[in-house]
Amino acid sequence: MLEDLKSNNRAWAARMVATDADFFRRLARQQAPEYLWIGCSDSRVPANEIVDLDPGELFVHRNVANLAPPQDANYLSVLQFAVDVLRVKHIMVVGHYGCGGVAAAVDGKRRGLVDHWLHPVREVAYENRDALEAIIEPVARLDRLCELNVIRQVRNVAADVFLQEAWARGQNVCVHGWVYSLANGLIKDLEVTVGSPDDVERLARAAP
Ligand code: CO
Repeated sequence: MLEDLKSNNRAWAARMVATDADFFRRLARQQAPEYLWIGCSDSRVPANEIVDLDPGELFVHRNVANLAPPQDANYLSVLQFAVDVLRVKHIMVVGHYGCGGVAAAVDGKRRGLVDHWLHPVREVAYENRDALEAIIEPVARLDRLCELNVIRQVRNVAADVFLQEAWARGQNVCVHGWVYSLANGLIKDLEVTVGSPDDVERLARAAP
């Protein structure tokens, strides 16, 4: 199996060079992506493929249930590098419908460490329990929680000091909330884009 992957890799590299002889040499010198993608680890949601971007165009952070926890050093390191050094123009928090992580957060089963990781999703579910309980159909209820989780993570990113400092020095960077559908391959923009401290306030008042 691993031999297949290695031979796939050789074929892929050859194809890239066939279309652009200088491709890897150019990328080896520097990366200048304009986007940071914060997405779920789910194998069905591969960041670059979904938005059809080449290596070098998307800076990526993925974890279970696409969280942006304000105390997580891994996520914070990625965010700071993306904002302060790469100076990305857009940050997309990308959830997906049918997320197993989001489902596991609220199914009441104990799994161990991941239960702690998923705690922020349970908080979102609890804070929105009336709206969620009003949705009778379980799949639709879970899909709504996936959306609410994305909106909460957009707020986390936008409220972070790295974003606040970037806006204070006049840097142009927006945070977006998207949800990807496994069923049809399409992204839904939740239209909660934040591009200034005023937007953060507005989203905090309007959104869950
Ligand atoms: Co997921």
